[in-house]
Amino acid sequence: MTVLITGGAGYIGSHTVLALLEAGHEVVVLDNLVNASRESLRRVERLTERTLIFVEGDIRDRTLLDQLFSEHAVSAVIHFAGLKAVGESVQQPLSYYENNVAGTLVLCQAMQAAGVTRLVFSSSATVYGDGHPMPLHEGLPTGEPTNPYGRSKLIVEELLRDLADSDSAWSIVLLRYFNPVGAHASGQIGEDPRGIPNNLLPYVAQVAVGRRDCLAIFGSDYSTHDGTGVRDYIHVMDLAEGHLCALHALAERQGVHIWNLGTGQGHSVLEVVKAFEQASGQAVPYRIEPRRPDDVAACWADACLAERELGWKAWRSLAEMMADTWRWQHNNPDGYR
Ligand code: NAD
Ligand code: WQD
Repeated sequence: MTVLITGGAGYIGSHTVLALLEAGHEVVVLDNLVNASRESLRRVERLTERTLIFVEGDIRDRTLLDQLFSEHAVSAVIHFAGLKAVGESVQQPLSYYENNVAGTLVLCQAMQAAGVTRLVFSSSATVYGDGHPMPLHEGLPTGEPTNPYGRSKLIVEELLRDLADSDSAWSIVLLRYFNPVGAHASGQIGEDPRGIPNNLLPYVAQVAVGRRDCLAIFGSDYSTHDGTGVRDYIHVMDLAEGHLCALHALAERQGVHIWNLGTGQGHSVLEVVKAFEQASGQAVPYRIEPRRPDDVAACWADACLAERELGWKAWRSLAEMMADTWRWQHNNPDGYR
């Protein structure tokens, strides 16, 4: 089938495009390249020996979307496009609501007009908010995300539920990701953040490759086994394969379906640093700093529902996540530049 992938040049998008091409699907990518490089998709084409259609443009551009749907027989949309930096969302909330909420609204309007009613949406564990016991399962009520980025994800989830309730033609999947890390095993595509990385793994990798001096660990006094924050890191290729399973599930289901994409296991910051040092053979100097505002001590998924209903399970180990991150970073010290 032909799948439109918004944000397909980005980190998770490019790995998912690769998985879809390898599974034999036709892919149209729409991306405005605000946080990505066209080079990621050239490499995906080389790795898969397949071609894709790339449209440089914005999900908020209704005219462009109408044209895209009239030119391509799209059966389903995987919607990654959006802004994702938590701190920036506090500084620039209007940009986040504009891209993430208004952008999704325009996309859905164009899909409705074109009669395309199958959608997979990139949601986040952040919609659970704080205060639930771990692990987080899909039956829990959503909470109160602590920043505009998280709220934009929650608003979109609610918008999509209302849409599916209004018309049984819609079939929508909300995938709640935990902490995506790693890279394709080729070392050719991976995460390429602009500026100073916000997330742990890209920062660790840049320290190891010599682009940054020292990792700041945000807090060593959490009530976790070693005092540092615990998260559910999931290999980006496991995540990509989860999207393939969700795509197949859409064909058989109506309404809204929610699946966590995580491993079900938590790892602390110190465990990640140690695993990275082992995988890379590089030292990762660090210093302990105060806690980052709004960070939780621990967060990990109950990943049973996706296994039961999708037949999907994340199987790549923490060691593999680290080795693949290092291969990507070592081969491409400056990312795609
Ligand atoms: P990313 O920034 O690498 O990818 C997002 C892509 O969307 C980029 O290629 C960017 O250029 C594009 N884009 C942004 N605004 C656009 C617009 N208005 N029109 C067209 N293209 C636009 O981020 P990612 O890590 O690959 O995340 C993909 C999705 O998954 C995002 O929606 C993100 O919020 C969500 N998510 C990410 C994480 C994570 O930790 N990486 C966790 C949970 C959810
Ligand atoms: C992981 C752990 C930090 C950087 C964020 C978003 C979330 C989701 C994924 C999209 C924490 C610690 C980090 C550093 C550190 N995104 N850390 N030094 O905070 O779990 O989630 O990204 O939906 O919404 O909030 O991920 O990678 O930033 O942090 O010590 O330089 O690493 O305190 O314990 P987080 P992260």
